[in-house]
Amino acid sequence: MEDYKMPLIGDTAPSFEAVTTQGNIKFPEDYKGQWVILFSHPADFTPVCTTEFMTFAAMYDEFKALNTELIGLSIDSLYAHIAWLRKIQDIEWKDYKNLEVTFPLIEDIKMDVSRKYGMVQPNESTTQAVRAVFVIDPESKIRAIIYYPQSLGRNFDELKRIIQALQKADADNVATPADWRPGDDTIVPTAGSCGTAKERMESDDPNMYCLDWFLCFRKESK
Ligand code: BEZ
Repeated sequence: MEDYKMPLIGDTAPSFEAVTTQGNIKFPEDYKGQWVILFSHPADFTPVCTTEFMTFAAMYDEFKALNTELIGLSIDSLYAHIAWLRKIQDIEWKDYKNLEVTFPLIEDIKMDVSRKYGMVQPNESTTQAVRAVFVIDPESKIRAIIYYPQSLGRNFDELKRIIQALQKADADNVATPADWRPGDDTIVPTAGSCGTAKERMESDDPNMYCLDWFLCFRKESK
């Protein structure tokens, strides 16, 4: 069995070809120019995973509006995937019903993709993936990674917030403070010299305010 190093933030996303519920995909080539959330779930026809897929399906248009595609994966067969996604359409939960999952779900029975992404974590399970999330940018760089254990359903508002925050950081060369939400003030990158620190503290820029030389915010319109 081939050994893989787990990909890290800043790495180019490992490439693969896979069979999915939406046909074959070549990653990352087919997704250049788009943000991608590549995520794994432990198994089809399991309760937490079902609630997650319903939530992703319900939020799919919100992700697409952020130029973000979703790609799911589990170590199940294509036919299990198809049967499960068809069943999900019959389930009502919260306000969700008649949900069609139109993003691709990878069949990874041989664990080719899950091993490349460190999605199988043997002390959790040797036969099922953990709940991994890789946020990959339009240049195919890995920008954020989250791993959840099998028993813990993901927070989908947080996944959306990660995309929004990374897009904001890239667009405006800023960072985002704790619990940042779109419209909140952002953080000006830390001053890298004594001169810049002094300039910041003495600045009369109406769009910036500093709590100290190393903690300056940029005002954003709500
Ligand atoms: C679930 O999705 O409910 C689940 C799957 C594998 C292990 C534990 C929970």
